[in-house]
Amino acid sequence: MVKNPIDVLRRYHQEFGDTFRFFLGGLKEAIVTIDPAIVQHVLKTNHENYQKSDIQVKRMGHFLGKGLLTTHGEAWKTQRRLIQKGFSPKQLDALSAIMQDSLSDSLRIFDSKIQDGPVDIYPHMMEITFSMVARSLFGARLKAEDIDLVSKTICTVQEFIVKQTLQPYLNPVFEVSGELKKHEMMRVRADAVLMSYIQKRRSEEPGDDLLQTLMDARYADGEGMPDELILSESMQLLVAGHETSSNSLSWLLYLLSSRPEILERMRQEFDTVLGDRPLSHGDVPKLEYSTQVVQESLRLYPPFWMIDRIAMADDQVGDTFIAAGSTVIVHVYGAHHAPAHWPNADEFDPERFVKGSDKLRTPFTYFPFGGGPRGCIGLHYAMLQILMILGEVLRKYEFTVAPDQSIEPRAMVILRPKHGIRMTFNVAEPVTCGA
Ligand code: HEM
Repeated sequence: MVKNPIDVLRRYHQEFGDTFRFFLGGLKEAIVTIDPAIVQHVLKTNHENYQKSDIQVKRMGHFLGKGLLTTHGEAWKTQRRLIQKGFSPKQLDALSAIMQDSLSDSLRIFDSKIQDGPVDIYPHMMEITFSMVARSLFGARLKAEDIDLVSKTICTVQEFIVKQTLQPYLNPVFEVSGELKKHEMMRVRADAVLMSYIQKRRSEEPGDDLLQTLMDARYADGEGMPDELILSESMQLLVAGHETSSNSLSWLLYLLSSRPEILERMRQEFDTVLGDRPLSHGDVPKLEYSTQVVQESLRLYPPFWMIDRIAMADDQVGDTFIAAGSTVIVHVYGAHHAPAHWPNADEFDPERFVKGSDKLRTPFTYFPFGGGPRGCIGLHYAMLQILMILGEVLRKYEFTVAPDQSIEPRAMVILRPKHGIRMTFNVAEPVTCGA
């Protein structure tokens, strides 16, 4: 199960059905489900009874402080309402220019990296999306070396949190050996860098970025957010907003590399809708086919392959009893590959998402961004970001997967390519008249 949960859970679903129970560590009951009625109940209808697990709230909270990812109840609700404004269509339009500039800078670096043969696209996509989210948050003037420091800190701290979670018996060792302290100090350094941007902004002209939204937000009593909270909310948006998008971009490029007809149709769509101008949020609805392709790739490879919750009180959904204290594992990957809802489920077929198809689909059979009130706050930002990067990469380069590359998903917190995805990129020749 730890090594390959995807395969094990697939076999269990075949044997025991859409919902089954097992005992975590032989003690605590866990319910794994792909049943749309139970998923809807847990994530949406009765979401107040289902809180995020200790891993997210305690372990992440230790390093990331208070914020959307690590709070519950009224505190979460108030913050969510305020931060939501930063993702409004108007704000996304304003962010598009910062995002595009960040992409142009990142692609200049990428160009120098692809000269010497195949590169693993996973870390490169991470770099591109991290810079983009960081600049969307802290503005175009965020320095490259600061982006680098914060990105390395987040990456290292996240790996440490996973270690703490998978090997909890080592936590006393981490304390004595200084490992814990080392990671805490990294976080302190990154905090200081970001805090300097927050404090500088207090005496500068307002910006068009998410930092400004956080600084302008007002609670019901007219008070603004304290700087410490702005800092921890920003850190959490950085954490939540970069690896998910880069992950899905990596899987997309891999899928597209063997489907020239889909690639060509997307290139044509980007050319028709944009010509030579950069993408902005208002263009997204016009990129109908490319959006279908992104949706289908998020079905096949949902970055969050499962969502876990703890039941606060006893509950009943249909004939399924959920005892207080049990863990509910909403198995996103399993739901997205369920033969009952997705014929030829393992096949990459963007036609499944043709306009209007969502009306025919059973609710909660497709939910890469989660669902209910705690669903992804960055959904529209993510779609804009993915399409923007994809539009540039597809039209600028020809790309193929390296011949000896084996592809296998590895389900950690996020569904990563186990062996990376090494690809060769060549700058595409411009098409000339009569060619
Ligand atoms: C393809 C890209 C993305 C995917 C697949 C994705 C997926 C998800 C999912 C499944 C959840 C719900 C987790 C749960 O219920 O426990 C979530 C929550 C969240 N996402 Fe995303 N996400 C993506 C991109 C982003 C971006 C770009 C941002 C921000 C810039 C972001 C910020 C957040 C935040 C803050 C939450 C927590 C919301 C809350 O608890 O109120 N995500 N995301």
